[in-house]
This record gives sequence, structure tokens and C-alpha cells, in this order.
Amino acid sequence: MDLNIVILAFISLLYKANGAVYELSVADEEIFRSCPNPEPGTLDIHGFLDLSEFSTSMNANGLTVSGNQTLVWDIQRKDRIQVSIKLLYLERGTWTSTVFSLFMRDFCKTMYDKNQILYDSWTGHIVNGDKDKCVNVPGTKFILKTYVLSLTSSISAPLREGRYKANVMGRAFDSTGTERPTRICCEIVGDVFKIKN
Ligand SMILES: *[C@@H]1O[C@H](CO)[C@@H](O)[C@H](O)[C@H]1NC(C)=O
Repeated sequence: MDLNIVILAFISLLYKANGAVYELSVADEEIFRSCPNPEPGTLDIHGFLDLSEFSTSMNANGLTVSGNQTLVWDIQRKDRIQVSIKLLYLERGTWTSTVFSLFMRDFCKTMYDKNQILYDSWTGHIVNGDKDKCVNVPGTKFILKTYVLSLTSSISAPLREGRYKANVMGRAFDSTGTERPTRICCEIVGDVFKIKN
């Protein structure tokens, strides 16, 4: 049997939206994919984080995440980081936009904000301090406590079942507003099933 089929789709996350329970299977145990057809200067997750001390594994509860992530993106401490996340749906073989998108003009201001989706899925699990550092200080190591990755449900409309991907784009701007030569793009692909109303 194709090894991919064994690995794919068994990583289950549960979350609630409008009372309905959906199951999301992340398609890749590694979580992140590179973006298709990137413009020049676009780096994938490895241009953002050194993941050599980071690991993921499946168990009955979902995808367990542990270890450290070290920043490698070559930008400057005062840079403004702009993050946009778009959710796309696979419609008869074509990725199409959905109403779900998120734009953070100044990510560093909200990186540790408990109301942000990235808090539950990432930054809320960083245990070492120095929270003024954001993601613009290369060499910074984020030490994560081991956790089961799950999505927060700030989703206010019912989801269609099927295959989704989240496209995440990060850009850095210096104090004059000039964009740095590199940007980060990665995607997370998963399947959504409704399992309970
Ligand atoms: C994470 O970093 C800490 C501190 O540098 C280190 O002690 C620990 O071994 C690292 N964890 C892994 C999985 O490499």
C-alpha cells in the first residue's frame, strides 16, 4: 500500500462550530507544505523556522506537537510583520476561495493575544519568556510544551465537508515601509468531515 495513504488523513482534530462537530484530518504529518508557484524571494517553512528540534506524532487524541522551533528568517528586530491566512476549498479539482480569511497588519502586536487563532494552535504553547521578541529576531528559540494541536472555533458559519487548505503568507517591512527581500509562504492541507450535528 502507498505509504502516503497510511500517513495521510489519520491525524484527527476535533472542534466545534455552531454546535456541530467536525473532524479535521491534516493531510501531512509534517503539517506544512510549500506554496505552489511562489514569486521570487518566497521561502517555505524552513526559511522561517529551523525545525530540527521539533517533532509531530499521531495518537488517538490527534496530532501531538513537541520540541523547539528556532527562528531563521533573516529580518530585523523592529520590522513590522504582516500575516495573511486564507482558507481555500477544493472544488472539483480547483482550489477556490472561501469567506474564511484573516489579516494581521502587525502580527507582533497580537502574537500572544489569547483571542487569536494562532494562540491556541501555536504561541500559547511557547514556554520560554522574552515575549517582546516576536518572530523578527533570528536565532530566537521557542521552546514548546508538548500539546495536541487543535483548532479554535471562531468560525461562525457552517463548514462544507471536503478538502481544505490554509495558505499562510508572512511579509516583513522595515521602518520606512519597504518590504524585505524574502517572504514566507506555507500551506496546511486537511480534510473536514462533519461527524455530529
Ligand atoms: C529544546 O531546547 C532546550 C534548551 O535549549 C534543550 O534543553 C532541549 O533538549 C531541546 N529539545 C529538543 C527536543 O531538542
